[in-house]
Amino acid sequence: MEQLINIAIDGPAGAGKSTVAREVASRLGFVYIDTGAMYRALTYEALRHQADVHNEEAVMNLLKQMQITLGSEADTGLVLVNGKDVTEEIRFSEVTGNVSYIARHEQVRMEMVRKQQELAKANRTVMDGRDIGTAVLPEAEVKIFLTASVEERARRRHEEQLQKGMPSDYESLITEIAERDRIDSEREVAPLRKAEDAIEVDSTNMTAEEVIESILEIVGKKAS
Ligand code: CDP
Ligand code: CDP
Repeated sequence: MEQLINIAIDGPAGAGKSTVAREVASRLGFVYIDTGAMYRALTYEALRHQADVHNEEAVMNLLKQMQITLGSEADTGLVLVNGKDVTEEIRFSEVTGNVSYIARHEQVRMEMVRKQQELAKANRTVMDGRDIGTAVLPEAEVKIFLTASVEERARRRHEEQLQKGMPSDYESLITEIAERDRIDSEREVAPLRKAEDAIEVDSTNMTAEEVIESILEIVGKKAS
């Protein structure tokens, strides 16, 4: 395992990336980096300042003043903006509904990629997102492209929200997820796509544990 440095996990919304990436990192003793949380944190700040999410300059001005901190691997997804805990807020539906517009801006992506590469330099990481294998860590030793049908991804989110006691509508989730995937896949800069050397894992009929084990097997083969 010594030579393995970075594991990239990309894929569409709700495929199970953060669930399995966090657990793979924990079992390997790597640091988990949730790049989606960084775009969400910026979106939350933009909404809080009533900035126009389509105005790249306004969004960049906010990003320049922001210190985004992701919790260490022992935490479960702690996200701080300028020292303030925004872990819950960045999952609000208003953030989810706007994050893909923020993530389209070229300057924003350049700055986020710079921050993410900095984090990966300091540690062995499991990083998840949309462009990790293609743009952030093109040299990652293991690249996974995690997918599942849109119906299954919406079902998972639906279950998750009901379990948290949150209101949820399955049909609206299908529409929201499909729309976000469309914007993420069609944007000009670093769109969501499978890296040529990524291994595709279709998790439609797999439990999270089965996905985790299949990724650990891929990692084990690379390392041997
Ligand atoms: O967890 P969920 O699938 O809802 O999404 P996320 O990973 O939190 O990412 C939220 C959004 O951030 C995505 O829909 C993308 O628009 C953007 N994103 C991105 O453009 N590039 C990344 N590396 C990660 C996220
Ligand atoms: O990060 P991403 O948006 O790709 O997905 P996630 O937030 O990790 O997973 C969405 C939901 O699906 C979570 O509630 C997971 O527990 C669940 N899940 C599942 O039921 N089966 C899997 N194979 C993977 C995730």
